[in-house]
Amino acid sequence: MKIGIPKEIKTLEGRVGLVPEACAELIQHGHEVYVEHNAGVLSGYDDNDYLRAGVEITADAASTYKAAALIVKVKEPVAGDLQYLRSDHMLFSYLHLAAEPELTKKLQSIGLTAIAFETVQSGRYLPLLAPMSDIAGRLSVQIGSNLLQQPHGGRGLLLGGLPAAERGHVVILGAGVAGSNAATVAQSLGAYVTVFDPNREKLAAARALGANVTGLHPYKHAIEEHVKTADLLVGAVLIPGAKAPHLVSADLVKSMKPGSVIIDISVDQGGCIETTRPTNYENPTFIWEGVVHFGVTNMPGAVPRSASQALSAALVPYILRLCEPGWEQADDLAAGINVKAGQVVHPALQSL
Ligand SMILES: NC(=O)c1ccc[n+]([C@@H]2O[C@H](COP(=O)([O-])OP(=O)(O)OC[C@H]3O[C@@H](n4cnc5c(N)ncnc54)[C@H](O)[C@@H]3O)[C@@H](O)[C@H]2O)c1
Repeated sequence: MKIGIPKEIKTLEGRVGLVPEACAELIQHGHEVYVEHNAGVLSGYDDNDYLRAGVEITADAASTYKAAALIVKVKEPVAGDLQYLRSDHMLFSYLHLAAEPELTKKLQSIGLTAIAFETVQSGRYLPLLAPMSDIAGRLSVQIGSNLLQQPHGGRGLLLGGLPAAERGHVVILGAGVAGSNAATVAQSLGAYVTVFDPNREKLAAARALGANVTGLHPYKHAIEEHVKTADLLVGAVLIPGAKAPHLVSADLVKSMKPGSVIIDISVDQGGCIETTRPTNYENPTFIWEGVVHFGVTNMPGAVPRSASQALSAALVPYILRLCEPGWEQADDLAAGINVKAGQVVHPALQSL
């Protein structure tokens, strides 16, 4: 198989589809890998690292897409990528089509097959979303505690408190991969943490993190009561493939304390907080009714080296299988197919 790795062109996105070690593994299995010039540079890998792995470096995006049959990239294609995609391409990347009807239409009109990392599913586990959710969950509390500082518009609070100074309250919606990572960091700082999830086992795991963590069922009234007292609210809900449900209304956000902070990690699926809108690292925050909002859709892009390494390790086994005939017979990869030869096939996208 001819595999192409274009350079990511989304604003301040520094991740790369595959690190050199992962390319070397694919090459050992007999595949050809084409990597666009400087694609790995923001992850700390230059063209020579790729050349040593046996990759062919392509001069630009046009020649990368031209050379390859399978395109592996990190973020959903934007205009600069879409112009090069063809009907005979197989695209393997994050797509988040439930929140992107225009992109869905465009992929349909190109007529290609697109497999979304985030809907590849093994049982209840999302193996290609998990590494990025690990990162986004941890970053949500790192970034949130920073935004709580007064010069950033926050209410000037140390999340963990101090002797004679109150602790902060972190409310986390969803105790999956991102939510549990957020809870781990928030509890280790010493904040009071309240996690909401309908899944009892996930609540039990959250409680086990420490006595300062409470796990609750997401009843509307319970969410309302806790969000009002939150210093940091983290949205980390997911219904695989579907648009995120709004668990926090604009009226509830209005009732939050001035200078409190919202980080809606699930913004890439439309967000679970009504007032969230997508932002990027160039302009990551906005303030609405005194509450600082952060809605960056590619949070792991801030730590591209860690993110590219973790993503590549998860991707290689799936890429090897995609290169074999009959790959779509396997349930986990079949769940990843969002668009097949121009037809939208994922059940969660049928209503778009
Ligand atoms: N912004 C970013 O850069 C970024 C990065 C990684 C992941 N994400 C997004 O983060 C979100 C979470 O991903 P994940 O891997 O943690 O998913 P996950 O499936 O591991 O966890 C989602 C959790 O939401 C829970 N949930 C479902 N409905 C709920 C409800 N009504 N109330 C409370 N909880 C509910 C589920 O039980 C599950 O535990 C996804 O939308 C994912 O795309 C965003």
